[in-house]
Amino acid sequence: MSISEEFIRELKYKNNISDVVSSYIDLKQKGKNLIGICPFHAEKTASFFIYPSNESFYCFGCGKGGDVITFIRLIEKLDYIESLKFLCQRANMNFPEDELSNDSYKQKMTVYEINRLSAKFFHNNLCSDQGKKALEYLKKRSLSLKSIKHFGLGYSLESKFSLVNFLTGKGYSQKDIIDSNVAYKNRLGQVMDRFSNRIMFPIIDIRGNVIGFGGRSLNGNNPKYLNTSDTVVFKKSDNIFAINFAKNSSLKNLILTEGYMDTISLHQIGFTNTIASLGTALTSGQVKLMSRYTDEVILCLDSDQAGQKAALRSIDILKQNGISSKVISIPSGKDPDEFIKYYKDESKIRFNELIINAIPDIEYKLLNIKNKYNLSDSGDKIKYTSEALKILSNIENDIEKDIYCSKLSNEINISKDSIKSQLSKYLSKISKNKNSLNVLPHNLNYYNKDKNQIFSLKRIKAEETILSYIINNYDITNNILSRVSENLFGINFNKKLYLTIKMLILNNKDLNLNNILSEGFDIEDAGKITKIICDYKREYVNAQVIEECISLIENENQKIKIKDIQDINSIELKNYIVTLKKMKQ
Ligand code: GTP
Ligand code: MN
Repeated sequence: MSISEEFIRELKYKNNISDVVSSYIDLKQKGKNLIGICPFHAEKTASFFIYPSNESFYCFGCGKGGDVITFIRLIEKLDYIESLKFLCQRANMNFPEDELSNDSYKQKMTVYEINRLSAKFFHNNLCSDQGKKALEYLKKRSLSLKSIKHFGLGYSLESKFSLVNFLTGKGYSQKDIIDSNVAYKNRLGQVMDRFSNRIMFPIIDIRGNVIGFGGRSLNGNNPKYLNTSDTVVFKKSDNIFAINFAKNSSLKNLILTEGYMDTISLHQIGFTNTIASLGTALTSGQVKLMSRYTDEVILCLDSDQAGQKAALRSIDILKQNGISSKVISIPSGKDPDEFIKYYKDESKIRFNELIINAIPDIEYKLLNIKNKYNLSDSGDKIKYTSEALKILSNIENDIEKDIYCSKLSNEINISKDSIKSQLSKYLSKISKNKNSLNVLPHNLNYYNKDKNQIFSLKRIKAEETILSYIINNYDITNNILSRVSENLFGINFNKKLYLTIKMLILNNKDLNLNNILSEGFDIEDAGKITKIICDYKREYVNAQVIEECISLIENENQKIKIKDIQDINSIELKNYIVTLKKMKQ
């Protein structure tokens, strides 16, 4: 969907950045700008700046920055389109619903409506005479009426036509009802309810739409749980049960369980940050959704072998998406729901203890491999150490790495120094392998980039000054654009930014943050770009200064080229030539 620049300009105009931000934090005037305590990281002295003239913000503490849309994305944890809609609402503007006329949009809306009506229907059943048994079942499982209402639980009647009749009565076509997957056509061609005699759990997305259902059998019929299959509004592998509630929880992490009942029971005793995967192994789509709200997940999976395997797999998927995790193990093979039922009034305290004692991901992985070996046997000890080092090599944080080296050293009674030196050997081996794979002819600078220090601060400053000069004076910088090749920029980010700016200017587009970001930058980049834009000091930077910046960089590039050749060792050179040959073939 394309959104016009006029619309974005109007939206920003009606949502003045200072007004919007000041509805979240207190701002004080400081010269032309405003300053306040950053809402995105913990700080005592203000380093969060609003630049009204640039319609932007930047925090010198955490590097977050951008325009009013970026601000809403970050603070409300919404995606781009959602933020636009949010700001529209705030300014009483209409969102350009050019989608409205679109058939697939209409179909989605119909499926949402059918889902919402079905959820209501199921819920009403539960509260009616016909739902008595089902309601009793839920009470026996210790769910309160409040939880039942909060989660909108329901009951699908035994009759296999009740929902279909209800929806047909509301005027929906058989096709739409089947498309929503609340019904199906049987072999005789009759359209029948998909769910019957089941407790119904509505699955709700982050915007509050009912997108599907889980249904638990009440009479032992198989399957025990039946879920909505994928529809135009529901993809099981991208959705999470109870994320609609958990995203607003004041608790900072998320607790991931396996089941609907586990999640509801935990919410009932106050752990409103609990979610459940939808009966499948955790997928990266689900993790991406979680990563919008947290960087720590507590895994609360079954403690059997399958559960352990799932935990190890989940740890890796979470890590790949920047989320660290901890693992809870519930004693005596209970699931969280059974645990809570067992401890009754004490369950909150007890569960909190489990959280406090949760095992951090790295430790969990170490424990897991340790169980395979007998550490009093030297051979096993060496094998264990080498597997352990593989795990430690994935830790990015140096302090964390150091802590685990100490732990490992105590555990296997080998000096920490030997462990650390073995680890760094291992790490350098990995990075060598990486290097040889990545040698491509067009970036001989790769070697320099890895040895980061080669770029002087002066040079980095020079690159940024050129970029900010162009962005702030793009009507008069044509001569720079035609002269300067993107290869002048040594820092990849700057190179990409330069190419983007150049492309936008050539296409007569505005050089605003939105247009720049939409060319393949992400929200984290918004801060860097804003800093570059706002750092520009009209008083000090002129064409002469830019010439000086360019020649400073050119000089450094010359030096780097010479150093490149000196630094390449024979293996790297060989790989380089092999790659070159392959490219030519
Ligand atoms: P209760 O018996 O009601 O407490 O459910 P539970 O959550 O303890 O069940 P279990 O541990 O067997 O399953 C965990 C989760 O896996 C459920 O919440 C469902 O999402 C899913 N699941 C279980 N059984 C089935 C099944 O037969 N089919 C499908 N598709 N999913 C299932
Ligand atoms: Mn259970």
